[in-house]
Amino acid sequence: MQLTCPVCQALLKQQETNLRCDNNHSFDAARQGYWNLLLAHKKRSRDPGDNPAMVQARRAFLDQGFYQPLSDQINQLALSSLGDTEHPSVLDMGCGEGYYTDRLQQALLEAQVDAELYGLDISKHAVKAACQRSKQIHWLVASGASTPLPDNSLSLQLVLFSRLMPEALAKPMQPGAALLVAWPGEQHLIELRKLIYQEIRESQFDPVSTLAEQFSLQSIQPVSYSFTLNSPEQISTLLQMTPHGQRLKQEARERICQLPELELTLDVNLGLFLRR
Ligand SMILES: C[S@@+](CC[C@H](N)C(=O)[O-])C[C@H]1O[C@@H](n2cnc3c(N)ncnc32)[C@H](O)[C@@H]1O
Ligand SMILES: [Zn+2]
Repeated sequence: MQLTCPVCQALLKQQETNLRCDNNHSFDAARQGYWNLLLAHKKRSRDPGDNPAMVQARRAFLDQGFYQPLSDQINQLALSSLGDTEHPSVLDMGCGEGYYTDRLQQALLEAQVDAELYGLDISKHAVKAACQRSKQIHWLVASGASTPLPDNSLSLQLVLFSRLMPEALAKPMQPGAALLVAWPGEQHLIELRKLIYQEIRESQFDPVSTLAEQFSLQSIQPVSYSFTLNSPEQISTLLQMTPHGQRLKQEARERICQLPELELTLDVNLGLFLRR
């Protein structure tokens, strides 16, 4: 594990449950096993990122396995992008409660890749939940706007359904390293969106142009399949997990949660970019 000080960017040295830089800035390990490197004055709110209810809903939904084929594709792309890199350093930026990070860790182990894997999120609630999934992963509460990892150190970075901050993403990556980005395609959860919105708007999210200055596009692989939710609880957890559901009025929420089943399309783009 190699981390940098969020105050002065010097390397942090670990002494048991404490990290300290040469300028004497020091950070204690949290009881759950993560490092909190988020500086109070850098937070935009007192409790930034996903709140406990969102974390809980995402965990409950993902643990049912509906997105497992997607996670498998992510792992396959991640492993092939690493090739035979020795001791790769890998970061899951905006890792949430760690479903994809933990499955990536298992895939790396199975492929006998001796990697250092980091999961970083600005939400301490998400990272606390992530700690329960694995003790082998280095879990960090920090901001993706200033990743506490050395410049040019990462062999691979993943950004799954999270915001893109191109300059901050590029900084800790080795030149030529891979950036794997997942974002919803036009048909993603379309059946649910049709139940919620009168008019379906096209997404404005355009990673290829957002990232163009720092990253070159290698490939975009669409992942698409259908899955069926067949209980009000399953529908309700998905609603709580998606931004669509969070915008819903109570009456509309109840109407949708009363459906006996809901067949849904998963449509996700996996973009592979290379750091210029
Ligand atoms: C839609 S969730 C995706 C979580 C996870 N990647 C997944 O797919 O299950 C977006 C995550 O980004 C985190 N986030 C938001 N702003 C962030 C920032 N500036 N730095 C790091 N993480 C951030 C949120 O707390 C949340 O966990
Ligand atoms: Zn320092």
